Amino acid sequence: MKDKAQFVPTAGGNEISSFQTKWSAPSNIALVKYWGKKELQIPCNPSVSFTLDQCRTTTSVRFERLIDKQDRFSLAIQYDGKSTPSFKPKVKTLIERILPYAPYLNEYHLQIDTVNSFPHSSGIASSASAMAALAAAIMDLEKQIYPSLTAEDQIKKCSFLARLGSGSAARSVEGPLVLWGEHAVTPVSSDLFGVRWTKAADVFTTYRDTILLVDKGQKEVSSTVGHDLMHNHPFAETRFAQAKAHYQALLTILEKGDMDRFSDLVEREALSLHAMMLTSSPSYILMHPNTIQIIKQVRTFRKTSGLHLTFTLDAGANVHLLYPAHEAEKIDQFIASDLRKYCQDNELIYDRVGTGLKKV
Ligand code: PMV
Repeated sequence: MKDKAQFVPTAGGNEISSFQTKWSAPSNIALVKYWGKKELQIPCNPSVSFTLDQCRTTTSVRFERLIDKQDRFSLAIQYDGKSTPSFKPKVKTLIERILPYAPYLNEYHLQIDTVNSFPHSSGIASSASAMAALAAAIMDLEKQIYPSLTAEDQIKKCSFLARLGSGSAARSVEGPLVLWGEHAVTPVSSDLFGVRWTKAADVFTTYRDTILLVDKGQKEVSSTVGHDLMHNHPFAETRFAQAKAHYQALLTILEKGDMDRFSDLVEREALSLHAMMLTSSPSYILMHPNTIQIIKQVRTFRKTSGLHLTFTLDAGANVHLLYPAHEAEKIDQFIASDLRKYCQDNELIYDRVGTGLKKV
């Protein structure tokens, strides 16, 4: 069943007065990008991502049933042990969107404690991992209320709830690769939630992702604004068609273990995402001169070394370097000697493909 009605729980269930749980969720990097959405993070095109391993958000939630049964949930949030009221509006919005599918939340006070494994100001968006970790904690409460919930349905709904907070969060629940957005070639895929994809050749499930932190600051234009600019974008329909074609082509490449075609397709995807920014109205540029320097050097290195170093970008200046584990030694040397200098404060993050949520 692909309809969202499947996520509305039936009445009844156990009465849980107090429950505490802790989950860690990874970030992810899209290989085929989601850019442009309809209401509440329904994507305009399907996407495919690598789940990451080291870049994570860990969130503990204490649910306390409200004594005076009010008809509204309440919240308190700490980041890294310190009260952070500035996070409240985003979390409140997420919970309000979730309420039709988790009405029991209105009976609780939520004490949320969250922390990222990557530096707060690293230019790495934490919304995907943060939303997925919170959704996982909520689904754990749901499991206490409705013990017959299957593990499979718990995961699926977790992705569905995370998507309501941030689209790419739908892909931060499982690994190593996740599909999100309907496409005829993958009948299991859905616009409502991400699904794990296990058909990739082994070489891709051990890929590295070294993230070059070209700019650790806040992006000039948020993803929310960027998605919006795809409405009335002169190339929108062509871009959505391209992404659909790339999705199908990439799955074949991944199944075959074809690393050359992987580089070609993944890099064109990244540049196509940024081409949308360059040609929107108003137009904007998130790449920095150092982003371009890295891209050029990666391409030269790939040609001269024969190794499969590949770049991709998210909606920012930082560069994700993807490469197979068995080539890591030589590529890591090249990164240290030739690319690290382009990073702000020489900072980079070594990550790899991972498996998704973990209960802590
Ligand atoms: O989930 P959002 O709203 O942060 O958008 C993510 C957009 C990209 O990172 C650029 C692409 C993607 O598919 O993750």
